[in-house]
Amino acid sequence: MCGIVGYIGTKKAVPILLEGLSKLEYRGYDSAGIAVFEDGNISITKDEGRVNHLQDLLNNKPTNANIGIAHTRWATHGKPSEINAHPHADNSKKFSVVHNGIIENYSDIKKFLMDNEYKFLSDTDTEVIPNLISYYYDSTNNLLEAISLACKDFKGSYAIEVICSDCPDRIIVAKKDSPLVIGTSKEGNYIASDIPAVLSHTKDFYLLEDNDIVEVFPSKLNFYNQNLELISRKTEKISWDASSIEKNGFEDFMLKEIYEQPKSIRETIGFKLNKEKIELDNISFTKEFLSNINKIFIIACGTAMHAGLATKLTFENLCKIPVEVDMASEFRYRNPLIDKKTLAIFISQSGETADTIGALKLAKEKGATTIALSNVIGSSITREADIYLYTHAGPEIAVASTKAYTAQVTLLNILALYFAEILEYSDTKLIKELKYELLQLPNKIDDILKNYKEVIPIAKDIYSASDVFFLGRGIDYPVAMEGSLKLKEISYIHSESYAAGELKHGPIALIDNNFPVISIVTDEMLSSKTISNIQEVVSRGAKTIIVTNQDLSKNFDYIIKIPKTHKYLTPILSVIPLQLLAYYISKEKGLDVDKPRNLAKSVTVE
Ligand code: M6R
Repeated sequence: MCGIVGYIGTKKAVPILLEGLSKLEYRGYDSAGIAVFEDGNISITKDEGRVNHLQDLLNNKPTNANIGIAHTRWATHGKPSEINAHPHADNSKKFSVVHNGIIENYSDIKKFLMDNEYKFLSDTDTEVIPNLISYYYDSTNNLLEAISLACKDFKGSYAIEVICSDCPDRIIVAKKDSPLVIGTSKEGNYIASDIPAVLSHTKDFYLLEDNDIVEVFPSKLNFYNQNLELISRKTEKISWDASSIEKNGFEDFMLKEIYEQPKSIRETIGFKLNKEKIELDNISFTKEFLSNINKIFIIACGTAMHAGLATKLTFENLCKIPVEVDMASEFRYRNPLIDKKTLAIFISQSGETADTIGALKLAKEKGATTIALSNVIGSSITREADIYLYTHAGPEIAVASTKAYTAQVTLLNILALYFAEILEYSDTKLIKELKYELLQLPNKIDDILKNYKEVIPIAKDIYSASDVFFLGRGIDYPVAMEGSLKLKEISYIHSESYAAGELKHGPIALIDNNFPVISIVTDEMLSSKTISNIQEVVSRGAKTIIVTNQDLSKNFDYIIKIPKTHKYLTPILSVIPLQLLAYYISKEKGLDVDKPRNLAKSVTVE
């Protein structure tokens, strides 16, 4: 989704802004723009297209400016075009603004401003921001006050940077429900919607909170609340390494991240299993509290929701508490039955997914105890929840989530074990076995990755298919869902996942010669049943690809063997060949694996 970068300091702004924008390209965008302040004027350069196109445009406009704001836009209101790209100016051209989020009441504000003789050029919601600031500036003659009054009028979400030709020594930023950080250094201050954009310049960051307004000077920051009372904020040291967001010799971020999974699982486990009983930072539940919980919700979107589905069984079996897994976008509007006896777990790699945050707020309002699992330190979801836990997957840049998913499934299993120990689950042998198997996962993933070449001929065989089915039963079904999502998002092949037993209730009508059917068969108790379902598609001419940890007959087109582990942990292993398959199919089709069309890494709008 949209990205923001800003710089004010002693260095030249444009190279810093362009570098920051290119680091945000992975989020998905369709246009880019920059505004710099020089010689009393604001100069805006923007267009539809990639950051290197913006760079070409800027090459014709050399500037030594050391103040600037920049943006990559992912269209919500109005098509991708130069006019709709950010930065946007007000009618007097005194103010220039970039914005992430959505101003939900923009049409009311636009009407109000048009009644006051303001004219609009674009179709965006953002254009009301500089104009409303300008409207309030006319009566207050005070930039900070004008921005604060405008922010009070906005409904929806925003992270904004504002520059004003009357105040050439500062950038003003404000945020609500959309992330914004300020990195500090001796050479100046760096603003960004995401830390990776400016991580090569500093590791000291202020993570802004909702309704913060900040005056950013080259060597000073003034923090205010929305009523313009001075407030204080603390910096956080970010431990991520700038090189961890480079490709390190891999052709694509997605491939690099697939290969980082042994490490990210090791780091997510960390020291959690070292003591006799699991200890988790930030949580200290009692038996009394957990025994009182009568329902667990696991809520998330996309891949993160699949991680929830893949661990429902572990929570239910080890904790004997019913678990419901739901999509955040559905959960938040269906008036779910929640009370003080509900525990609600929210999973989000980015920690900024609008629907997941909305669902979390709802659960909290209704009295649930909320736990957030995120991969991003200080992300919005971790600040909103009662308790937070981190996956330590490191920055995930590719839009298609891989290492975040396996880290989430790992952490959720550990959380279920932590609950089970508090609840004094009787099968201590199983708890021991699961802990042992968790520690074996990184080596087992390494073994699967060593055999990556097995996947390439399959990719070459099926890349031109127009439809693919993924099948699984029990614990394999969520993995089928994840494999299918991975394939469709980066290869644009239509694919669907089914619980294997459902196939004959309709979808089997679509099977004909060479229709690729990818099945996951890992649960010994269910495998004979899944195999029977696979035989039904073999009889109708399907091309069968099976991911399994069992010795199956050679009656299928391709079999990918994976190591055995405990059933609850198999979703961490069985997904790896599916990630690789999606990757190599996308490569075979010559597509941009890391930046699939229409998608964004962090979905900060509903
Ligand atoms: O940042 P989040 O984990 O909240 O993101 C949720 C989904 O948008 C995300 O998992 C999405 O489905 C991925 N592109 C899948 O690869």
